[in-house]
Amino acid sequence: KKDIESKLPLRGKKILITAGPTYEAIDPVRFIGNHSSGKMGFDIANCAANLGAEVTLISGPTHLKPANSSINLVRVVSAQDMFDACHQYYETCNVAICAAAVADYKPKQVAEQKIKKSEVEFSIELEKTKDILASLGKIKKNQYLIGFALETENEIENAKLKIQKKNLDLIVLNSLRDEGAGFGKSTNKVTFISNDFAIEPQALKSKEEVANDIVNKIISYYEKDI
Ligand code: CTP
Ligand code: CA
Repeated sequence: KKDIESKLPLRGKKILITAGPTYEAIDPVRFIGNHSSGKMGFDIANCAANLGAEVTLISGPTHLKPANSSINLVRVVSAQDMFDACHQYYETCNVAICAAAVADYKPKQVAEQKIKKSEVEFSIELEKTKDILASLGKIKKNQYLIGFALETENEIENAKLKIQKKNLDLIVLNSLRDEGAGFGKSTNKVTFISNDFAIEPQALKSKEEVANDIVNKIISYYEKDI
């Protein structure tokens, strides 16, 4: 058994992964959310854990359960909750992967009581949430930091800007243009862009396969290190 364990390429590596949507409360019964299923992040977590990594998975609301029982699952609701949990685990981790679809805006005020309908128009004032990935990039020491980018125009240019702005080592650009890719689907069309701006477009693959490719990127990064 020891022999097998020593061959696990991510043994001894601590990996932090965010997954799923965040819910931003409007009042006690309503929220602003999105269609993220969390599947991409959960697949990365399983793949990394199966290869020996010590995984902490910080997930917004989802019905998914981690397949590998060694995964430390931290369930959160809002962007602020996810921000706090990430910063709690980041300092000691070797790799962080932000796959969550974090809400960019939240209601400026959360009503204490259920908002009643009336005959007039109603609007909610929104303010920005904190950018978790950018914050992790700012305080980065030795961590290998991976982000995702969801773009519908100027995809490569926008993704490159995100690498620089958020101080990333690798970005996984998600294309929504191809049918079969994206939210709620089991497949993704991604392009890897590294911080030296090497661009590697990938074929349409299952999310499990994309997760495996991302984990292989991490493994080859550490192999180069030795
Ligand atoms: N992200 C994050 N915290 C936020 C917003 C985004 O950690 N508050 C992370 C996502 O998990 C993803 C990356 O940042 O890894 C890019 O998310 P994306 O929505 O594509 O980009 P934004 O920076 O939010 O910019 P925009 O939505 O305007 O394109
Ligand atoms: Ca966003």
